[in-house]
Amino acid sequence: MASSSPNSLTTVLAAFGALIATSYAYNIFSFLYLFLFHRSTISRYLQPASSSATSSTSELRSWALITGASDGIGVGFAHELASEGFNIILHGRSPTKLATVEAALKAQYPHISTRLFVLDAYPCSVPAIDDYVRGLAKDGLCIRVLVNNIGGGALVSPTFQPLARRTAEEVQKLFDLNVGFPTLLTRALLPVMQEPSLVLNLGSFVSHIPGPWMTVYAGSKAFNMSWSRSLGVELRAEGKDVEVMGLVVGEVQSGGHPGPVGLVMCSSRTLARSALDKVGCGRHTVAPWWRHAAILAAVLCLPEALLNWSMVRTTRGMVEEEKRLLEVDKRNL
Ligand SMILES: NC(=O)c1ccc[n+]([C@@H]2O[C@H](COP(=O)([O-])OP(=O)(O)OC[C@H]3O[C@@H](n4cnc5c(N)ncnc54)[C@H](OP(=O)(O)O)[C@@H]3O)[C@@H](O)[C@H]2O)c1
Repeated sequence: MASSSPNSLTTVLAAFGALIATSYAYNIFSFLYLFLFHRSTISRYLQPASSSATSSTSELRSWALITGASDGIGVGFAHELASEGFNIILHGRSPTKLATVEAALKAQYPHISTRLFVLDAYPCSVPAIDDYVRGLAKDGLCIRVLVNNIGGGALVSPTFQPLARRTAEEVQKLFDLNVGFPTLLTRALLPVMQEPSLVLNLGSFVSHIPGPWMTVYAGSKAFNMSWSRSLGVELRAEGKDVEVMGLVVGEVQSGGHPGPVGLVMCSSRTLARSALDKVGCGRHTVAPWWRHAAILAAVLCLPEALLNWSMVRTTRGMVEEEKRLLEVDKRNL
């Protein structure tokens, strides 16, 4: 067998290099295009209902249902979607907190209608979800947008814990809130939503990078993103006009994640606005805020061992800080 000459080796290496350079150039170009030139198509989901049993004109407008809308990013989405002209269904478990958000929406956007959907998502009840959706269908609401926002790692305490020390109840709660509730609600709601329709699912950086001491949360968020991609592709293949977008989110100031807005942390409204700005971009997963997207792209260039090491180091610091704060709380009781 003839051995390869230095010339053919050079050609193979050059072709390989060109391929890598093209892939980098494409990624840079699509990043710039998405954040500088893409124009949102959110307005296509504002089409009035084709038929409806509701009487009021304002109720004929498109509705957006936002889960976990009594705090944080959910409130951000409620305001941004209301500012676009959507009627809003606010979901949460606390009627008092939801009423406060509703009052703020009504004061700022008097032309929209609002409804409350009060349901504790843990334990996740299929009959309760199905009953509620049946009620919406009976009322003939034109629901075009669903934001599966409910979730988080801080919904159990402590947030950081080795898997073997988590109680079975904590694991179940993380599954129910991050995976079970959004999946079951979407399953029930899709047949009721009017096309064209939009489903936004909240993910996290830990969908893409390791999340030691928060493995169940990280795994759930990876589910959210993989599920968004598969569902988006499935619906398109079935001929449905439903856009599904998984949102890869870094640090955002919220009730569950307080902290100052800064270089790497944006406000809940900025996150929601950035997400709505990406509607129609054709991707099934996207990091909506440009700084998060840039950070994630840079982090994913790191060698795996270095990324794992730095996540262990960073998260260990957070584990220690949380332990200290929980001790202070215990002493103050
Ligand atoms: N903030 C971040 O830095 C960040 C980063 C990455 C991803 N995310 C993702 O973004 C989403 C929102 O996060 P967030 O920080 O805005 O959360 P948050 O401030 O903690 O708000 C969570 C919302 O979910 C509701 N909720 C919690 N448990 C519930 C239950 N059992 N039944 C019904 N509602 C319940 C809360 O209601 P109450 O007001 O009654 O508690 C609140 O409205 C999550 O999916 C999270 O994973 C956030």
